Amino acid sequence: MKKQIGIVSIFCLLASNPSLLSQIAQEPPIYGSGDSSHPVVGRSGIVSSRDELSTKIGLDILKAGGNAIDAAVAVGFAMAVTTPQAGNLGGGGFMLVHHAETDTTIAIDYREKAPLGATRDMYLDEEGNVDPNKSRYSRMGAGVPGTVAGLAMALEKFGTLTLAEVIQPSINLAENGFPVDYDLYTSLKRGKENIQKLSPEAYSIYYHKDGRPYYPGEILKLPDLAKTLKAIASKGSDAFYKGSIAKLIARDMETNGGLITQKDLALYRPALREPVTGDFNGYQIASMPPPSSGGVHIVQMLNMLEPLDLSEYGHNSAKAIHLMAETMKYAYADRSKHLGDSDFNPVPVDWLVSKEYADSLRDKMNMDAATDSESIMPGTPPIEGPDTTHYNVIDKFGNAVANTYTINFSFGSKILVPGAGFFLNNEMDDFSAKPNVPNAYGLIGGEFNSIESEKRMLSSMTPTIVFKEGAPYLLCGGRGGSRIITAVLQVVLNVLEFDMNVSEAVAAPRVHHQWLPDQLRIEKTINTDTKSILESMGYELKAGFATGYTNAAMFEDGFFYGASDPRLPSGLAEGY
Ligand code: GLY
Repeated sequence: MKKQIGIVSIFCLLASNPSLLSQIAQEPPIYGSGDSSHPVVGRSGIVSSRDELSTKIGLDILKAGGNAIDAAVAVGFAMAVTTPQAGNLGGGGFMLVHHAETDTTIAIDYREKAPLGATRDMYLDEEGNVDPNKSRYSRMGAGVPGTVAGLAMALEKFGTLTLAEVIQPSINLAENGFPVDYDLYTSLKRGKENIQKLSPEAYSIYYHKDGRPYYPGEILKLPDLAKTLKAIASKGSDAFYKGSIAKLIARDMETNGGLITQKDLALYRPALREPVTGDFNGYQIASMPPPSSGGVHIVQMLNMLEPLDLSEYGHNSAKAIHLMAETMKYAYADRSKHLGDSDFNPVPVDWLVSKEYADSLRDKMNMDAATDSESIMPGTPPIEGPDTTHYNVIDKFGNAVANTYTINFSFGSKILVPGAGFFLNNEMDDFSAKPNVPNAYGLIGGEFNSIESEKRMLSSMTPTIVFKEGAPYLLCGGRGGSRIITAVLQVVLNVLEFDMNVSEAVAAPRVHHQWLPDQLRIEKTINTDTKSILESMGYELKAGFATGYTNAAMFEDGFFYGASDPRLPSGLAEGY
C-alpha cells in the first residue's frame, strides 16, 4: 500500500500519468552498431552509482518489489558505509523524485544549515583575512547535517518500505564487514596525513596499526557505525537529531571548539521545494533549485545553447567547446552574485531561467573567440521583480530518483564523531567567508551566500531528470564541486544534442569553465588540433584534471539503460 503524500505544493510536470509499466518492451533490445561504448541494459529497472555494493543493494530492493524511492534511500545508507569519503550520515544533499502515481516531481533539500552560533565573519583572522583551515579542517567547518532527515523524509513521503527494512543491508555491511574497493583505498591513501592529524578515531578505524590503509579486497568492519545505523533503524531520524547520536555530536563539538549543539540538531528540518524547470528541443528538464545553483544554471545554459545547434559543429569540435565555454562564463558570473539560500534572499530564479534573459546573454557572446572573463559581469535582474556522490534509480512503475549528497571534501572535515562512526562535513566552506574571496573550488560568492545562522550554504549539486513525452527519460548528476554543473550540462547535451547513448554520454571527454579563474579546464583526451584552435581563439587551457564524475540512467523504447563514469575505478550501473 502506498502511503498518503502530504505535500501541499508539489510540482506537477506531467499532464498525464504514463506508467512505465505499460511501456516496458517484451523483446530484448538489439545493441546499436557503431557505438563506442555500451550502457548496461535492464528490462525492469536500473540503479547506477559510484559503488558496486550499494548499486546491488538498491537493485535487490527493486527486485523484491520495492520502488525507486525505497531503493534510493537504501543506496544512500549503504554508501554511508562503503564510501565514507562521500557517502554519509554527517553531510547533506539534494534528491529529485518523480513519483509516478501522483504524477509529481519534487525536490527534497536536505542541505546542511549553519549552526545557530554561526556568524558572518567567523572564518576571518584578526587582520580580516580568511583562515581556510577553520572552514575546512576543524569542527567549526561543519554544518548541521541533513542526510538522515532527508532520506527519512523521502521514504516517508514516497516509499513503500520501513526505515528499518531499507537500513538493514547497510547494518549488515557495517557489522559483518565489506571488501574495500579501489576507490576507498585511493581516498584513504591520499587522505592519510590529514586524517591522522585531525581524527585519531578515524585513523584507528580505517588504517592498520602499521599505518597502511585497508587495501582493495580487505574486509573492513565498522561496529560504531553499525550501532548508529541500528539506532536510526529502530528509533527513526529522532535518534540522530534528538537521541543518542545527537548527544555524541554535541559532546564532541563542545569539547573541541565546534558550534553544533543539541538545539541545532533538534531544529534541523529538510525542505520540500519545487524543481527548477525548463525545456530544450522539446524535452522537459527538472533540476535542483536554490540553495543549489545547479538547476538554475543547467537551464540557463541550455537556454543559451538551444538555438546554436551545436551538433552542426560536431561533438567537442573547437567551435562547440567555445560556445559551451562562453555560456559557462556567463552562468558562473551570475552564480557569484545572484545565488544563495532563497529562504534568506530573493534569488531571481524566474529571470535567470527565462528564454528572454538567455537571448540577451547570447547576443553578448562572441561567437568566434574567447570573451575575457573580466569583461563579463553578472547580469542585473529587472527591478520588479568539491567529494560528492550521485546516483540514479528508475523502477518499472515509472518512479525515478536522482540523488546527490556529500560531506564536501573527501571524508569532509576528516573528523569522525567519536563513538558514532561517521565523518562530519566541512560544508561551511561553501559559504562566502568573505565576499569575493574564492572558496576551495575557486568559486566567488556574494552577499547572498554570506554566513548567517540557520542559512543553507550555496551548492553546485545538480541532480537532474529529463522528461520525454511526459515520462522520465534521462537521469544524471555528478560530483566534482563547481565542475558538477558543467559536467551534467555536457552529459545532457551528449544525449539530447549529439545523439549518444548514455554510456557514451558519460564517458565522452569534457571541458569546464567557471568564469573565474579565466581558464578552460580540458581533459587530456581532447585532441591536440582542437586544443590548438582553442588557444588561437584566446583560451588559456588547463589540462589533465577530470572535469567532474557523473553517472546516468535512462528509459527508452521500453528498456532501462545505465552507466557510471569510467573516470572512477569503482562504480556500477546494473539493471534487471
Ligand atoms: N560541496 C560542494 C557543493 O555542494 O557544491
